[in-house]
Amino acid sequence: MKVCRNINETINTLEEFRKSGKTIGFVPTMGALHPGHLDLMKRAKDENDVLVVSIFVNPIQFNNPEDLTKYPRDLHRDKALLEKINCDVLFNPEVEEMYPEAVNTKYNFGALEKVMEGAFRAGHFNGVAIVVNKLLDITKPDRAYFGEKDYQQLAIIQKLVKMENIPVEIIPCPTVREKDGLAMSSRNERLTATERALAPVIFQALNQARLNMANMTPDEVKIKLKNKFSEIPQFKLEYFEIADDKELKAIDDWNQAKGIRGFIAAHLGNVRLIDNIKFI
Ligand code: PAJ
Repeated sequence: MKVCRNINETINTLEEFRKSGKTIGFVPTMGALHPGHLDLMKRAKDENDVLVVSIFVNPIQFNNPEDLTKYPRDLHRDKALLEKINCDVLFNPEVEEMYPEAVNTKYNFGALEKVMEGAFRAGHFNGVAIVVNKLLDITKPDRAYFGEKDYQQLAIIQKLVKMENIPVEIIPCPTVREKDGLAMSSRNERLTATERALAPVIFQALNQARLNMANMTPDEVKIKLKNKFSEIPQFKLEYFEIADDKELKAIDDWNQAKGIRGFIAAHLGNVRLIDNIKFI
């Protein structure tokens, strides 16, 4: 695996692959790799000649400074995992390499950036869009892989690619879970043992909400789920939304959209967790 710390080196390395007719699959990450990340990478490796991964903890997408300083980092371990799956190129820049000057691009994703993660994490998606645009420009992949775990992020990226006419195919990948249902996340490492034991409640509650569709209105489903969380003091539910799977607009009638998903964000101790599942 070739490790590139610098942008020009990455551009030149990938240009050589492209010249020899090889297709490039790209998986952007912030490191602390887990099987969810590796699943995206294995798929990218299967569907392309060359696998490029980036590890960059992007400071401008963190609305909470403590979340940035506490974000888990273990490059040594990450590199070993990437070697194991035969990753071809790792792009691992310093902050100064990515942002030699302050960036002030302001994207307008309309309603999509105003709900859920957009509403609770000011500036988050703008920071994600800036870095992903830059990473796609550097790596120019044929395909880029994103997890449904961060469903709203995936929708933002799909919109970004359309708005900016970026010639890449965005491939959505299903959420990888622990045996007990907890969606894998780098932030799970920060849960205490007690919190970790409680964490699967998020996925269980989403599944229960989906079952409740059969005999409740969306509002009733929401109230029931909120009541469940209010009984567990370790959790602070930030939002539970039931929304269409394209624009992510909240629905109040099951017939309002063809595809519907449930979305949760909750604080468990000091850790903020998100998850979502398909309802219909
Ligand atoms: P990160 O949280 O490291 O996630 C990298 C990619 O892995 C994202 O596409 C995310 O949706 C996916 N992923 C994470 N956990 C997953 C799981 N349990 N199952 C399936 N896919 C999962 O998302 C980011 O980094 C950043 O915002 C980034 C896009 C790299 C921009 O900085």
